This record gives sequence, structure tokens and C-alpha cells, in this order.
Amino acid sequence: MTRDEILRWLKVADTDDLERLWAAADATRHRYVGDEVHLRGLIEVSNVCQRSCAYCGIAACAPRVERYRMTQEDILECADKALEYGFGTVVMQAGEDPGITGDWMAETIQKIKHRTGLAITLSLGERCEADLRAWRDAGADRYLLRFETTDPDLYRRIHPSLPGGVSDRIHQLLRMRELGFEIGTGVMVGLPGQTWETLANDIWTFRDYAMDMIGIGPYIPSPGTPLDGPLGEMLQVEAATEQVPNDPLTTLKTLALTRLVCPETNIPSTTALATLDPASGRANGLQRGANVIMPNLTQSKYRVLYQIYPGKAGLHETADITAARIRNQIETLGRRVGVGPGTSPRMAQR
Ligand code: 5AD
Repeated sequence: MTRDEILRWLKVADTDDLERLWAAADATRHRYVGDEVHLRGLIEVSNVCQRSCAYCGIAACAPRVERYRMTQEDILECADKALEYGFGTVVMQAGEDPGITGDWMAETIQKIKHRTGLAITLSLGERCEADLRAWRDAGADRYLLRFETTDPDLYRRIHPSLPGGVSDRIHQLLRMRELGFEIGTGVMVGLPGQTWETLANDIWTFRDYAMDMIGIGPYIPSPGTPLDGPLGEMLQVEAATEQVPNDPLTTLKTLALTRLVCPETNIPSTTALATLDPASGRANGLQRGANVIMPNLTQSKYRVLYQIYPGKAGLHETADITAARIRNQIETLGRRVGVGPGTSPRMAQR
């Protein structure tokens, strides 16, 4: 598929065309990654963040956020649950929190590995080379860092840099890959200022770098953030008729096209999609290209404070309920819960 074809498919609205797209994505998923759905248990380690990304509800500048950082005991309790529920991976995610030091995280990684043997994914923002190296040496297997958009101007306007630092997430991802991490990235669909052309470029870029994991969710306005206010309005006016909508349909088209151009990649059916469409978001994702779900393991007292956008699916559930519900959903769809770490085929072949 060429970039122009991706662009054309992104804009299709005809029901028959959409059915063809869904069927092709589902068949490609079946053929290349099979019927297993891998479960990655999400641990929301800290909502402290030093960055001010214009869309994010836990950004440094976000108003009225009660901040927390989990203790190692809290984290290990979640990792034990992942093992108990039969998940193959834990994902430690946090804001870009300088209080998560290189040493502390390295020790946490070692403890989880020693206790559970599970695959470990990190999603801790942009970190220095020394930290990444230490975490890889400690046993971390994968790193997630969404590049969010390939439009450099839009990226700059919604990701204020830290003083003295210019962020180049693709470059960082490639460094992580050199360090031996499986690398994951992704974008939000329908960011104010995102045009169809940009979104087609985003998908093309996933393919160009053969990303191991790709997370795609709709942008959900977070109250009180700049992107939910004047900045968002201004960017939307600039994009005019080319503005991509942040709806479930466009998210699913992006997911399906990503599966077609990156057939072996691990692609989650995201929480953001389930949030916009609680009745069928998860299932639609799984039936239109996705092969991964990231059930939340975070203790309730912390979970409610990790609101990167409002109304996050599963916010008021316990980890036990989430795990049982998702397992049930997978089986209802005629799929199987994945066994083992669910390593990307590209890495497994190395
Ligand atoms: N809506 C949807 N997704 C969001 N993220 C952050 N804020 C929002 C929002 N308001 C996504 C970003 C980030 C990931 C962890 O969550 O893509 O990389």
C-alpha cells in the first residue's frame, strides 16, 4: 500500500468499503499474529510529571491533580497479580517523573524479574541514556514512547520542551532499539490540528521504522488543559476542512490500516477507544486489527488519580474484576488468551 492509498482509505465512508477494510485487517491479524490476545498488566507507577504536554490531564501544569508515586511494595503487589491472572507482561507507566530515579527503577525491575519472571515493559517518558541502559541491564525488555504526531510544527506546539532540551522521540526510540529494547510507539487520533495527510504520514512512519508495538487511541479532551481551550480551537481552525475527527470510527480505520502495513506488529485495543465507546470499543479494536489488551492492575486509590483524560474505562473497577471481564470478552469473541511473554515476531526471529 502506498501513502496515497492509506490517505484514500482513511477517508472512506461507504459501508461496503469499510466492511472490506475491517475484513482485510482481521484476516491479516489472524494470518500474521494468530488468534491469541496477549495481556499486558498496566501499573500506573506515578502521576508526577515535569512536562506540560498540552493534552494531558496529569501534565505538570494541569490544575488540581493530587500527585502520588507508588512504593516498591505497591508495585510488587501489582506484579504478583499479573502472575496470578496469567498475564505474560507488566507495563510500568508514569508521568516523566524525576523522582523515579535510575537506581530505584533498576532495583524495581530486578525485583519484579526475580519474583515473577514476567516480561517488563517501561513507559516512563523521555529519559537519559544512562537510565535507559541501566534499566535494560536490570532486565527491562520493552519501551513504549508514542511519537504522538509526525507533524513537527504540531508536535512543537503541544509538547513544550524542557529548558535546554529538544525532544526527538523517533531518535530516542531508535537508541532504545540499539540498546536491545523492543520498541513501541503510537499516536492519538483527532488531535486538534491533525490533518488526514499527517495521519497517513504517521501510519507510514510506523511501517518505515518497523515498530514492534503500536498504540492508537482517540484524543479525548482533558478539561482545563490548553488543548481543550484556546490552543485547541486555534489549531482546529488552522486545519480547517482537513481536521481529523477524534471518533471511534476514525480510530478504528487508523488501527486497521496500521495492521495492514505492519502485519506482525503487536497492536493493543486501547483504553481510550473503550472510553469513547464503552459498549463495543474493546471488541471492535480486537476484530479490526488488534491482538493485545492492557488491563489495569493499579490499586484503586492510585487508579483514580491517573486521569490523563476524563472518564477512563475501568476507573472504578478493581484489578480482579477488570482481569475477569477482559478474559471473558476475549473468549466470547472466539479468541484465546495469549500464553507467555508475547514477544514481537520481529524480535523473536533475531
Ligand atoms: N486523550 C487521549 N490520549 C491521551 N494520552 C495523553 N493524554 C491523552 C488524552 N487527553 C495518551 C498519549 C500518551 C499516552 C500514555 O496517553 O498518547 O502517550
